[in-house]
Amino acid sequence: MITFNQKTKVFTLDNGSITYSFLLNEEGFLETLYYGPHLNEELSKESLRGGDIDNCSTEYFDTDSNKEKTFPDHFKSTTASLEIATHGYLDKRGAPIIIQNPTGSYQTSFIFSSYQIFDGIKELKDLPGIRTKKKDCETLEITLQEQEAPVKLVYSLTIFTGFDVISKSFQIINEGEESLHLLRAFSLELDLLSSSYTLNHFDGVWANERNWNRNPVVQGEQRISSNYGRSSHEENPFVFLSSTDASMTTGEVIGFNLIYSGNFTFRTFSDYSKSLRILYGLNDEDFDYQLAPRQKFETPIALMFYSSCGVDGLSVVCQQFIKKHIINQQIDHNYKPIIFNSWEGCLFDFNTDKIISYIKDSEKIGSELFVLDDGWFGRRNDDYDGLGDWHVNSSKIDLHRVIDYCHQEKLKFGIWFEPEMVNPNSDLFKKHPEYVLGYNHKAMTISRHQLVLDFSNPEVVDCIYQQMVLFLDEYPVDYIKWDHNRSIGEHYSSYYPFSQQGEIYHRLVLGYYSLLSRLTKRYPQILFEGCASGGARFDLGTLYYCPQIWASDESDPLQRISIQYNTSLGYPLSTIGSHVNNNPLTSYKTKAMIAFFGTYGYEMNPNNLKTSEVEELSEIKELYHQYHQSVVEDGVVYHLMNPNISDFVALESVSSNQESALLLLMNKLKDHDHYYSLKLLGLKDEYQYQNDLDNQVHSGQYYRLVGLRFSRSWFNEFNCRIIKIIKKK
Ligand code: GLA
Repeated sequence: MITFNQKTKVFTLDNGSITYSFLLNEEGFLETLYYGPHLNEELSKESLRGGDIDNCSTEYFDTDSNKEKTFPDHFKSTTASLEIATHGYLDKRGAPIIIQNPTGSYQTSFIFSSYQIFDGIKELKDLPGIRTKKKDCETLEITLQEQEAPVKLVYSLTIFTGFDVISKSFQIINEGEESLHLLRAFSLELDLLSSSYTLNHFDGVWANERNWNRNPVVQGEQRISSNYGRSSHEENPFVFLSSTDASMTTGEVIGFNLIYSGNFTFRTFSDYSKSLRILYGLNDEDFDYQLAPRQKFETPIALMFYSSCGVDGLSVVCQQFIKKHIINQQIDHNYKPIIFNSWEGCLFDFNTDKIISYIKDSEKIGSELFVLDDGWFGRRNDDYDGLGDWHVNSSKIDLHRVIDYCHQEKLKFGIWFEPEMVNPNSDLFKKHPEYVLGYNHKAMTISRHQLVLDFSNPEVVDCIYQQMVLFLDEYPVDYIKWDHNRSIGEHYSSYYPFSQQGEIYHRLVLGYYSLLSRLTKRYPQILFEGCASGGARFDLGTLYYCPQIWASDESDPLQRISIQYNTSLGYPLSTIGSHVNNNPLTSYKTKAMIAFFGTYGYEMNPNNLKTSEVEELSEIKELYHQYHQSVVEDGVVYHLMNPNISDFVALESVSSNQESALLLLMNKLKDHDHYYSLKLLGLKDEYQYQNDLDNQVHSGQYYRLVGLRFSRSWFNEFNCRIIKIIKKK
C-alpha cells in the first residue's frame, strides 16, 4: 500500500481506491503530487511541474561558501505544493509547525533525513488515537531535521484498508541542550492545486448546535476554529470541502476531523494562484509550548476522508470509519439499553420516593437504564453548590435503595458527573481555591455559577479521580453521563510558571483524557456518555472513550431533527444521544420517531404520561427491539431530503447486511396534491424488498432508480412516519 520509488523519489500511499503521493525533492523538501481517486500511473517530478521547470528556481545565500546559490531542483518555495511548508522564509501561505529556537529566531524549515514503513499505527502517549489491528492500515513515518536548530520532526501518514481515509500527525522532538518554544503545532497540511471548493462547517450555540453552513472558499484566509477550551458549540471540528459541482451523491468531497476535544483551527488559504493550502490542528491562539531538552510533543491525529460520490459518500466513509476505528467496540457492540434520564422531568427537585416512582413509571415505556442526572451529590439542590464534592447527598437520596430497586427490576443504573468543574460554594473550593483556573485573579468569570478546575495540574485530576473511585467502588453503576457545562474563560494556571502559560489550554485537554482513560480502564463495563452543555464537546477525542454523546439540550422536534441530520453527516447515528421529552409541539410518537434516529431514550416526568401516550411510545419501543441495533446502531444513514433547505425531511438508515432499512419522513409544512418519488440509497440492487407504505415488493435497483412513491398530503404538519423496507426471504 505504501511505496517509495528510489529512482523517482516518489512516496505513494494507495489502498486501491485512493492515491496520495508526494516527491522528495533534491533539497530534501516534500512536494505534494496528487490526492484523489486511485491512479494507475506513477507520478514523477516532471508530471508535477509540466513545462515550467526552468521558471521555478529559488535562490539563497550560502554562508559556508559566501556565495549566492540556486536550489538545484528548481523548487520555488512561494508557490510549491508542500507537505510541510517552511516558516519565516518567502512562503507566506502559512506553515503547520512554528518553532522559536533558542537564538530567538522563528525560522522553521524541515529537511528529510529518513523514513520507515510499517503495518499498523503507533499509539500516542497522552492522546486518544485510532483503534486498529496491524492488518487494518499501513504507516509511513518520515523523520526530518530542522535546518538551523537541533529539532527532529516525525511526520506520520497512515492509509487504511477498506476506507478512503488518511491520517496525519507530527511529533516534534527537541534534541538540543536548551529549551525552545513551539508556537504552532498543527497536525496536517494539505496543498491542493485548485481552490474551487465550498467550505462546509457546522456552527452553533447552546441548544442550536451544528448548523450546516456553506461558504465558497475565497481568496485570502478563512478559519473555522474554537478557542473556547473545548471543541465547542460554536464550531465543530468536522469540516468538509465539496467541489463546486458536487451534490449529495456526486462529485469530489474531502472531509477533515481531528481526534481532539479542545481548541482547534481549520484554516484555508488561497492567493492569486488559486491553489489552496489547508492547515488543521491545535488552535495556535495563546499557544506557546516550551519544549525542554529531549522533550517530545505529539500533535493530535487529523483525519482526511475522501469521497468521489458527493456528500453522502463522504458521510458513509466517516460513519463507518468512526465506528470501526474510533469507538471502543467492546462496549459499543453490546446491546444498548433504552435510557430514561431524570433531568428534564425533575431537575434538582427529587427524593428517593420520587425517583423510585419515576423508575416504576419509566418501565411502562420500556426504560432499561435509569439515569439519575444532576443533583445527587454534595449540597446540590440548585446550580450554586455541590460541583467538586462527589459524595452522595444522603439527606436527599438513598442511592443504595435506588440502585437496588433498579437492579431488582432488571434495569441498569446510571449517574451524572461533571468532573472538571467546581462551585465557589463547594467544600472543595473552600479547601483548595488554588485548584481553579485564574486563581488569584481579581475577578474570575463565572458561568452557570461555576469555575473551571485546573486539570492541567495532575494533583487536581488525581483529587477528582480519588473521589470518583470512592463513589464507583461503593455504588455499582452501569453508565456515566460526563458533563462539562461552561467554556473556559481564564486559561491561567497557578501551577505552572510564566514561561508555560501557553501550554494550559492543551494541558487541560490532556487532563480530561487522563481522567477518562484511567476511569474507562478501571471500569470497562461502564458505558460513558459525553455531554457538554448539550453538544459542546461532540468530537472524536470524546468518542474514543465515550461511544455516545448527548447531542443537544434542544429537544424541540423540529430543531432536533436538523441537529441530528447535520451531526450524522460526520458521525454515526449510534453516537448521537437523543431522547423523547415533553415538548408540546408534536405528539410523543413523532418525537419518539426522531429520537429513534439516534441513541433513543426518554427525559420527562413519567408520572404524567397518559395511557394513550404510553401506548404511542410502546409502539416505538417494539420497533426499537426489532430494528434499532441492526439498522440504526450498526447501520449507515443516508441523507435524502435536507431539513435545512426544504420543508420535508428524509433520512434512511440501512443495516450493514443491507437486508433492512428504515426511512424517517417528516413534514414541516403540509403540501397538497404533490406526489413524490424518493430515491433510496444503500440497498442491494439484486435483493427484493417489501415496503410497509404500499406493501409493494421491488428490487433494490428499483428503489434506487425509480424510488418510493408517496404523497406528502398524507402527513399533517410536523407529522412523522418510519417506513420499513425489508428484504423478502
Ligand atoms: C447540562 C446537560 C443536561 C443536564 C444538565 C444538568 O445542561 O446538557 O442534559 O445534564 O447539564 O445540570
